Formats: sequence, structure tokens, C-alpha cells
Amino acid sequence: MGNTIQNIAVLTSGGDSPGMNAAIRAAVRTGIYNGLNVFGIYRGYQGMLDDDIVKMESRSVANIIQRGGTILKTARCKDFRTSEGRQRGYDNLKKRNIDGLVIIGGDGSFKGAEIFSKEFDIPCIGIPGTIDKDMAGTDFTIGFDTAVNTAVEAIDKIRDTADAHDRLFVVEVMGRDAGYIALHSGIATGAENILIPETKTNMDELVESLTEKEKRQKLVNLVVVAEGDDFGGGAEVGQILKQKLPNADIRVCILGHIQRGGSPTCLDRLIASRMGYHAVECLVEGRFNVMVGIVNNKMSYLPLSQAVKVKDKFNKDWLKIVKILAS
Ligand code: F6P
Repeated sequence: MGNTIQNIAVLTSGGDSPGMNAAIRAAVRTGIYNGLNVFGIYRGYQGMLDDDIVKMESRSVANIIQRGGTILKTARCKDFRTSEGRQRGYDNLKKRNIDGLVIIGGDGSFKGAEIFSKEFDIPCIGIPGTIDKDMAGTDFTIGFDTAVNTAVEAIDKIRDTADAHDRLFVVEVMGRDAGYIALHSGIATGAENILIPETKTNMDELVESLTEKEKRQKLVNLVVVAEGDDFGGGAEVGQILKQKLPNADIRVCILGHIQRGGSPTCLDRLIASRMGYHAVECLVEGRFNVMVGIVNNKMSYLPLSQAVKVKDKFNKDWLKIVKILAS
């Protein structure tokens, strides 16, 4: 592999996240700025296998920086896990002399990119796009800030009705393996309890704290649960609480996929623009097969082989803060 990239392609893969469009825009325009031909691949690796690839111009990415979703669409592609599938993808890239790839997605997408880059002479650069934030090598992932602000706005509204009826609300936020959305949105909305997959949930302790609050007629009780908590999501936790606290008026609200959509926040647009720009600069400068991240507000470059989900990045003090502030 040399420093001679001329034709690059961009794709989005895995779960979408707000800000992916801003990253596509940045990658396309930085490529064009550097005199490269830039292609867009639809529906992630699936489009690579299906030859769903188009040439992108500067105008192709006009008016998208503010839009959620991804103009390139996204998918999870089983066939890319097979060597026959990857060969098909490579053949389609080679038809257009594509010699560099920018992959916007999560750890599964990077795993695929790492294998692909080893099998074929196509350098790959990853950009972390996931609302879950649980990636190694970066303080931010594209979409987390928007998702967490969507959750905060929704939980604030739930608080109004919880207060009006003196109800206890269990709110489920996204996070199959990660509690960042729960932790950030829970603290920001004054939730009394936050249940996350990274820590073992002590149901007796939760019931005890809610019983104590019931006794002193605390006005609002919010329990924010990440969908991947060890007791299950909001429905399961709500069910248990209804049994253990028969006098409480309990409702469950599952926020779901609204957290994945919507116009990206300023922060998400900014990090997406920076990451998209630097991803293409990596290809131009010959810094291959890395994930572009931001650590302490500086760009960081992690080998794709290490760009995996991490569970224990959050600050344990935060859980203590939740308890103290919700008293
Ligand atoms: O994007 C990550 C995530 O939001 C997880 O927290 C969640 O479990 C998952 O996506 C759901 O994705 P899908 O509905 O696309 O399977």
C-alpha cells in the first residue's frame, strides 16, 4: 500500500445515528478538496456487495448537515462475514478503481473493515457513529449527544405528568450493552435511580429507596433504565416494581427509536465534521486502517483491530452523585 489513493468510497453501516450525514458531507468534500474521486456506497456493506455505488459530487451532500438518518442508508450485512461476500464487494470496488474506504459505524462495522483491509489491498478508515458511545479510543461517538438530548427532553415531559399524578415512572432509554444514555439523561433530569448494564442492579436496594421516598411523599420518582440492564428493560423493571410496591401508581415509558433520529446537535455536527475531514486526511497521508477518534479534544487514531466496544469507561463517581442529588 502506498501513499497514492485516488478514488475513495464512503459508507454508513450498522445502526444509524444523528450526525452521520455531517460526517458523509465532510468526507466527500475533503476528498474532492484533495483532488480525489469520491463514491458513496448505499446500505453499508450490503451495497458494496450489490454494486449499489454512486459517484458523489460536492452538491450530492448539500443541505444534509442538519438532517438525521443517513442519505447513504444503512444496513447490517450477513454476507460480508463470508469470504465470498467480501470478494464480491472487492470486485465491485475494483471496477471503479476504488482504493480507500471510509466506514461510518460501530464496532461490528470496524471488525468487518479490519478483515477486509487485511484480505485485500484497500485501506479502511473508521469513524465512530453510534448513539451508545461505548467505543474505545474516543471521548465522543457521533449521535450520542443528540440521542441523550432527545432523551432529556422526553424525560422532562414525563416529569410533568408524573408530578401532576404523583406517579412513579420507569423510563427505558436505549443502550443494549451501554448505560451512557441512561446515566447522562438520568442525571440531567434528576432521576432518583439509574439502572445500567455496566453495574449489577440491586433490586432490593432499589425497592428500599423507593419505599423510603414513598413514605416521605416525595413528589416525583423517576427510574431511568437502560434497555440492557441485567433485570431487563423498562417493562420488566416496571413489572417487578408493581409487585413490590403495590401502593405506588407506576407507569412505564419506553422511549425507543426516537433517540436514533432527529436533527443532530451542534456537538454532533462538529465532531462528525472533524472526524470526516481527518478520516480522508488519513487516507491521503497514508495513515491506514485506523479509527479516527477525539480524545481530550485532540484527534486520535486507534488501529481498527482495537476499535471495539468498551464497558467500563464511565466514571463510577457519577453513580454516587445520582444517589446524593436525588435525596
Ligand atoms: O444504535 C445502538 C442501539 O441503539 C442499541 O442501543 C440498541 O439496542 C440497538 O441500537 C437497536 O438497534 P436496532 O433496532 O437497529 O436493532
